[in-house]
Amino acid sequence: MRKLLALALLLLSPTLSWSLDQALEAKIGALLGRMTLEEKLGQLQQLGGPGTQPAPPNYSEAARKGRLGSVLTLLGSKNINELQKAALESRLKIPILFGFDVIHGYRTIFPMPLAEAASWEPSLAEKAAQIAAAEAYAAGVRWTFAPMVDIARDPRWGRIMEGSGEDPYLGSVFAAARVRGFQGTDYSEPGRLAACAKHWAAYGAAEAGRDYNTADVSERTLREVYFPPFKAAVDAGVATFMSAFNDLDGLPASANPWTLTQVLRKEWGFEGFVVSDYESIKELIKHGVAADAAGAALAALPAGVDMEMVSDTFMASVPTLVQQGELSMETVNEAVRRVLRIKMRLGLFERPFAEDLPEAETMKKPEYLAAAKEAADKSLVLLKNDGPTLPFTKDLKTLVVVGPLAADTTSMLGWWAGDGKPEDAITLLDGLRRKLPTASVKQFQGCDIDCLSDGGFAEAVEAAKSADAVVLALGESYTMSGEAASRSSIDLPGHQLELALAVLAAGKPTAVVLFNGRPMTLSKLHEKAPAILEAWFPGTMGGHSVADALFGDVNPGGKLPSTFPRNLGQVPLYYNHKNTGRPALNPTDRYLSKYIDSPNAPLYPFGWGLSYTTFALKDLSLDQKTIPPSGSIQASVTVENTGPVAGDEVVQLYIRDAVSSVSRPVRELKGFQRVTLKPGEQRRVGFALGPKELGAYDQEMRWKVEPGTFQVFAGTSSAGGLEASFDVLSK
Ligand code: GLC
Repeated sequence: MRKLLALALLLLSPTLSWSLDQALEAKIGALLGRMTLEEKLGQLQQLGGPGTQPAPPNYSEAARKGRLGSVLTLLGSKNINELQKAALESRLKIPILFGFDVIHGYRTIFPMPLAEAASWEPSLAEKAAQIAAAEAYAAGVRWTFAPMVDIARDPRWGRIMEGSGEDPYLGSVFAAARVRGFQGTDYSEPGRLAACAKHWAAYGAAEAGRDYNTADVSERTLREVYFPPFKAAVDAGVATFMSAFNDLDGLPASANPWTLTQVLRKEWGFEGFVVSDYESIKELIKHGVAADAAGAALAALPAGVDMEMVSDTFMASVPTLVQQGELSMETVNEAVRRVLRIKMRLGLFERPFAEDLPEAETMKKPEYLAAAKEAADKSLVLLKNDGPTLPFTKDLKTLVVVGPLAADTTSMLGWWAGDGKPEDAITLLDGLRRKLPTASVKQFQGCDIDCLSDGGFAEAVEAAKSADAVVLALGESYTMSGEAASRSSIDLPGHQLELALAVLAAGKPTAVVLFNGRPMTLSKLHEKAPAILEAWFPGTMGGHSVADALFGDVNPGGKLPSTFPRNLGQVPLYYNHKNTGRPALNPTDRYLSKYIDSPNAPLYPFGWGLSYTTFALKDLSLDQKTIPPSGSIQASVTVENTGPVAGDEVVQLYIRDAVSSVSRPVRELKGFQRVTLKPGEQRRVGFALGPKELGAYDQEMRWKVEPGTFQVFAGTSSAGGLEASFDVLSK
């Protein structure tokens, strides 16, 4: 009987799911039909919240009139429920959608997203997002403005910390993982949030790495580099998108019908809604594509932005625009329909209120902190380790810690730290003192984060001279990356380098730990420092992770998701570059694409990272020599731990389409796998390459797998590795 029932459900399921969608759409239509224009515009209005303070009285007033559909950054179940109560006293009782920037944690703060990407373990990012959703949901948040999936090729841009780096494949895998983590398979379930892919589109292509600046990118580069992580988010079912601030090829992203409607909806079938970025609709006036608020609304709403964040051009101008026949009511209705669709899919009508559980039951649970520790462990990247200097021996008696970031709790959390509390953060000094309970662990700041004065250098150097080992804690403060934090230099700030060189000259075993939100130019430090560990902003548990790594209880296995240039003059510098007609293969030949004062090669390439052990790749093989354009090929390679201790290696698979109707990058990442191996252990790792991996846009912008030879590279970074090739036949 049960089998029969299961079979019946299976047969019925397509129509069931179709009827469920139809039921939802019918419900939306019925509600829409009862709404006044003012109530419709209320659903398209999001206002900014006062954080942990109660919402101002005029918000409750607007809510009671059905004129307030969403609020961002209102924190605390009590504050949220108070305003929600007002909304449910309105005529149609449509609940408010509360959103917040839950980017890498809500109260338990995980490593910043670029650091998480350095783990090359998407399951960690998915778990981090799931935990962040659980804590945020408990606090009344139902929508996060994450994942940020902007590809960034310019480390001057402060928001590079918020994404997954320079590569579209790595960025796509992490985008999908984070959407799954926030939303689960059904974001109406308790503990889940509606997610938001941002910033659509090409916000990370800001010229000169200057935040909010113009982006001028070819359609091919948009479709092959900047779009894929957004498409991955759509394919993972992301509920919402956020339109970007930037001008894109002459049309601001918040008024760009090609990206907002043609690509996102007609090509990709996205059914959710698009929220503008913070006042990005009103900013259309400053862009010069609108003369006033009415012009801004008229440019944004028909283009495909549905909800207006903070500015109120829709609320103020749409009634007149509709009355004058400049804007159709159907355009308004479609935007409202999309917003109501997500609110209903969220279960917001059924469960509009925040649970008011004690924070002790919902925040910083031991398993959450353990997950944050594991994520920090796996995000660490060992950039250099001559000697080997690391790991230090645990029986040392005196450890001296020098630098402005040894005890900076706020910087451990990084920018976009949600409702994270600095007092919860484990600093490097905390971690070291717990790691070495009987040793003398002394801290000498040397200078503050800007390091404009060397007044504290001498004391630090003297202390280093009598230490058994020294840790230099250098880098950026959390305010030097994130939004509106572009830097015209990506060197260590102030005189930190001089401090490091002075301490290194003391001649003791010394390791540099970097806390930073972006790739930095470290050439001079690299020349003198025997060991450099990239810790990024590692989150609440970061100090324990770094201390464990410095003393060998964690073996760093992370890999760079962004290139570290030798100098800023090389930027933009990324691994998946074109070959040009004059590749700089022969350094003595003048007439090549190179500099007369610098190598082309980065200091540390994309995918770079060392370990306390060593690994070898061997036996790269392909299961076929030729395939048809629709075919797939299996590449396999063996990785072996050839060193003394267990460790992780990330096997990376790259391709190159050697001859094509358009120029192709010299390498493109198409697969990766992080494996843990004991000394002497081997693992055979396989990667499938099919049309999805081998395809590209031809001269007519058609997606296809072009015939010809493809090279395959298996490596432990984007440089070097084993090589093989195969041919795609013309049919
Ligand atoms: C900011 C950011 C965006 C964020 C929003 C709400 O300006 O650009 O990423 O989600 O405003 O805080």
